[in-house]
Amino acid sequence: MKLRMIDNLDVWGKYVLLRDDLNVQIVDDKITDVFRIEQSMQTINKLRNAGARVVICSHLGQPKGAVVPELSLKPIAEYMDVPFIDDCLNRDFMSGMKNGDVVLLENLRFYSGEENNDDEFATQLASGFDLFVNDAFAVSHRASASTVGVTKILPSYAGDLLKSEVENISRVLENPNRPLLAMVGGSKVSTKIGVLKSLCKLADCVIVGGALGTTFAYATGHNVGDSLYEPEQKDVALEIMRYAQENNCEFLLPLDKGVADRFEKTATRKNKSIDSILDTDVIIDDGVETTARNIDKINSVSTVIWNGTFGMAEWGDTWGYSTFNVAKAIAKQTKTGKLISIVGGGDTVAALDVVGVRDNMTYVSTGGGAFLEFVENGILPAISVLIDG
Ligand code: 3PG
Repeated sequence: MKLRMIDNLDVWGKYVLLRDDLNVQIVDDKITDVFRIEQSMQTINKLRNAGARVVICSHLGQPKGAVVPELSLKPIAEYMDVPFIDDCLNRDFMSGMKNGDVVLLENLRFYSGEENNDDEFATQLASGFDLFVNDAFAVSHRASASTVGVTKILPSYAGDLLKSEVENISRVLENPNRPLLAMVGGSKVSTKIGVLKSLCKLADCVIVGGALGTTFAYATGHNVGDSLYEPEQKDVALEIMRYAQENNCEFLLPLDKGVADRFEKTATRKNKSIDSILDTDVIIDDGVETTARNIDKINSVSTVIWNGTFGMAEWGDTWGYSTFNVAKAIAKQTKTGKLISIVGGGDTVAALDVVGVRDNMTYVSTGGGAFLEFVENGILPAISVLIDG
């Protein structure tokens, strides 16, 4: 895939609209995970050093066209130490920009035209710019105004992070060392179920954990109590399991779960077999036996693709038990050269950081859904518009 890059372009004095994915976790106005910001810096600095006037735009969360103060990008501008423009369609500041200046615009999704890929919104967003650079791999599975719409209006290029994501993930997918294990967890259940089908085709073994695994446990007839899961996905889940079988892909379900009497960080954890969950139990993590089984599997394969935590890892050790132990096992195998490990997803990467193993992975992607869809299709809507030829 030959992406159009900015490398040989003269951007001196040019107004560049740069799409980053700065959709990071913010708790009480504090950024708790700066990975996506750090990864975006290379392209920002490259453009700044080449004398461009760089205007960064991003989304944060899913405000669905409304102004939600908690989803303002202001704390991110403060962290990056760049001026903040509190309306992404405001262009008054641009005439005052000098070469090498960088500013950050307010959340694009405060306008519904962003997610609807509305032509008029894209035109307003593109106004005043000479060119567009997409470095937001993590949102490139969404055909939005800021990822696809503006490419119809402005000369458009890929940034260094986007290129690196495409190259690193493609390398593993094209010729993986086998056996290949795919582990999928997290809470965005309905968005991941479809992608699992492709993984069943690609991988030798698929493990489903977290809320996703709970939906599969429910689909196969287990009581899952008062937990987070998607009962309406039952038939899809069963279809995926049949599909795995047809493709000779081992499909591993949770054996036990960490449960509590309420969905709270401070609740007492009990480990229960998947057959003995009560109506009043709330599942918050994968269980001890499931984790041990997963680690055995990790120790027996040559490649791991992992997206999505298996419990509320952001609540610390009690509810991060399965996620943290799996992360450590992958790190250990990767460090000794026995395993190629590719990990994606905001919460998953944050969990790697908690146990200090991010640098031990072969490659860590900034993408969550985008990572999985890229694994599924080898291309994303906002990347296909940046390819030459
Ligand atoms: C992500 O966090 O996966 C990306 O930023 C995309 O976010 P979205 O799922 O809200 O579109």
